[in-house]
Amino acid sequence: SVYREMNSLRSLSIEVEKCLGVKSVFIVESGTHAETVKNLGAQAAIVFEDHISKGELIGVTGGETIYSVSESIVSRDEKFDVTVIPARGSVGSQARFQANTIASRIANKLNAKLQLLPIPETVSKQAMEIFLSDSEMREAYEMLKSLDVLLFGIGRADVMLARRGINEEKSSKVLNCGAVSEAFGNYFNLKGDRVYSQESVGISLDKFLSIPKIIGVAGGVEKAQAIISISTLRPDMVLVIDESAAHEIIKEV
Ligand code: F6P
Repeated sequence: SVYREMNSLRSLSIEVEKCLGVKSVFIVESGTHAETVKNLGAQAAIVFEDHISKGELIGVTGGETIYSVSESIVSRDEKFDVTVIPARGSVGSQARFQANTIASRIANKLNAKLQLLPIPETVSKQAMEIFLSDSEMREAYEMLKSLDVLLFGIGRADVMLARRGINEEKSSKVLNCGAVSEAFGNYFNLKGDRVYSQESVGISLDKFLSIPKIIGVAGGVEKAQAIISISTLRPDMVLVIDESAAHEIIKEV
């Protein structure tokens, strides 16, 4: 029954919370890749909306999973006094999954303010200086230092290195250092030590560690190690994952 199904997901999440040592884990049913992403989005949208309140500054990252969250957020008629900002510059070729696009979608749905970050994720130091000499851009960039909430995706290191077009030599180096996960431009090993970070525009690891509320969303059995790795960064994080990842995490931890 639906009831039994809900109960078993609930006890599975308690088990995963214990395994990972994180505060709160929500688990959704797994299906095909598309179904899993949809379920993650639906659950994470509820969790996200429960965690935001008036006056807050909300950062969001890119990727297919967070895009799915944006799809599930309910449109509000009344203005909601929060500001949404992409936590990173853009990456990859699919505009749909870029942090800027997702932030704008979420701001629209929430009937909230939007602060864009019109800077590519990877730029040279020089280019960055030019960008930041523009007062509007500097202001946007400064806002990233005072996020109240972060909604972020978690990726596999190998997948993200490829998605970002990092060359073979560099990629092997990073993977040989034990990188299994990627989040907000940083690559971590299974224990959560950062092994590589891209010269890039967006929230820093330091900042990440002090954002009051963080919600990570990821699923699929192939992301189990990435989720374990990222969960070590903050025991107070809220995670939304799927059943298949949950079972694999329990096996591995
Ligand atoms: O590129 C943005 C990002 O949030 C990464 O930090 C993360 O690793 C990835 O997307 C997750 O993407 P997806 O949800 O498509 O697996």
